Amino acid sequence: TRDLQIRRVECGEGEVEFQLGPRDPILGSALTIPLPPGCDQAIVHYTTQPQASGLQWLTPGQTAGKRHPFLFSQNESIHARSWIPLQDSPGVRITYDASIQPVDGLRVLMSAQHRSEENGAHVFRMDLPIPPYLIALAIGDLEFAALGPRTGIYAEPAMLPATAHEFEDTERLVETVERLYGPYRWGRYDLLVLPPSFPFGGMENPCLTFATPTVIAGDKSLVGLVSHELAHSWSGNLVTNATWRDFWLNEGFTTYLENRIQEEVYGREQALMEQVLDRRELEKELREFPVADQILHIDLKGRDPDEGCTRIPYFKGALLLRQMERAFGRTAFDRFLRSYFDRFAFQSITTAEALDYLRTELFDRFPKESAQIPLEEWVFEPGLPSGVPYARSERLENVAARGIPDRAWNTQEWLEFLQIMVRPVERAKLEELDRAWTLTETGNFEILGEWLLISIESAYEAAYQRLERFLTEVGRTKLLRPLYTALMKTPDGQTLAKEIYAKARAGYHPITQTALDKIVHFSK
Ligand code: BES
Ligand code: ZN
Repeated sequence: TRDLQIRRVECGEGEVEFQLGPRDPILGSALTIPLPPGCDQAIVHYTTQPQASGLQWLTPGQTAGKRHPFLFSQNESIHARSWIPLQDSPGVRITYDASIQPVDGLRVLMSAQHRSEENGAHVFRMDLPIPPYLIALAIGDLEFAALGPRTGIYAEPAMLPATAHEFEDTERLVETVERLYGPYRWGRYDLLVLPPSFPFGGMENPCLTFATPTVIAGDKSLVGLVSHELAHSWSGNLVTNATWRDFWLNEGFTTYLENRIQEEVYGREQALMEQVLDRRELEKELREFPVADQILHIDLKGRDPDEGCTRIPYFKGALLLRQMERAFGRTAFDRFLRSYFDRFAFQSITTAEALDYLRTELFDRFPKESAQIPLEEWVFEPGLPSGVPYARSERLENVAARGIPDRAWNTQEWLEFLQIMVRPVERAKLEELDRAWTLTETGNFEILGEWLLISIESAYEAAYQRLERFLTEVGRTKLLRPLYTALMKTPDGQTLAKEIYAKARAGYHPITQTALDKIVHFSK
């Protein structure tokens, strides 16, 4: 547990003594309950604290509707322990029952099956064994729209029409993964679009993916997020990393699956554009992070596992799988993946177990093809093996060749355009772009994030008001981190960063606060 107030523990008829060990800032405190003979269950009575890292309590002002409060949980990596006393390791699998009593008749959702409502209490059950980081709860003024027979979307009423439209392909996405990798085993697949302070792009809570509203681009160009979180229903939720050192088994496999799904549903060119942008981001992080953090089987000793969550396990992991696909052929590799998901369904496995299975089921059977793949180097060495081919996208190459924006561009083309601009960019050029394309006022948060970054790096002050609003409203760490980092590089920027951060911090999720405190050198 971490930061729980344990009131008392009951066992059978009576109360039992418990011990709460010393508090480690990362791991928390061990709760030990010695069970008296004949007693194999205990009831722990406890309360959470306001600073519980796994919960964010939003004021009405932080929601779209502005009238009701909102609560949501985020357990990955080790935040379950901040609101539930349990064995908080992905190597442990559990089922759960929950009964939740909301205030004000608000809607309650969990990563489980909704069973009933009695006297205002909502009863849920997850009867498939899941790791604790997949328990999830959200409460707010939420409405539902069906997307397909087993898919749907929850969002605040004001957000529902736009989100339902953006994610209308969800049922098709589920059908596509099933065709590739076998049946979807979790019953329903619903999406929950959270308020903008949600600290991630998405979270693969079973039956109920949590998603940031910042991917609502209007043209489905960021639906890769749904493909990603949905893919976790196979890689991650069905076959789970046993420890956080094995995180790449969750994210690398999922990023590979995500791109395959994107290719099936939105075409090869869309999938290639995403690969090209991902590769650039990977290379940027390989330049930024120390060699120890570039190893897929990362060493996390003494560290918060959230620190292992760079883009490296995602994109380096996916490149390894893509190399295998190329070497063994799509048919053989797809067959392998399907068998991997069946073999380890509802189990948590280590890197060593996954490598074992890869070797016996794939590498040993295709010795000639496997000679091209330096598996040990991929998994245990930093950087990338030499000669990993670059994906190429005609549409992105046209962006560079054309040099001026086009009305028909989607998010990926805009990101390419903005990312390859040499900094600093002259003010006149930025003014002209802004006038022609109203970039400072764009509602596409990925493009806006990139535009604000250029603005900081080019001291384009016309965008600074928008920058402040963005930093105050959005809580998605991936979008915030580069902006604060860029501001901190100049004295004026530092002053501005600290000023905005002091105002914005209270509205950020505890996980976002922890990540950003280090960047802006904030101390309480
Ligand atoms: N499981 C992750 C989110 C996560 C990882 C939360 C580690 C806490 C610790 C989720 O599936 C994810 O990868 N989300 C991405 C979006 C995706 C489209 C790459 C994100 O939030 O950026
Ligand atoms: Zn993921």
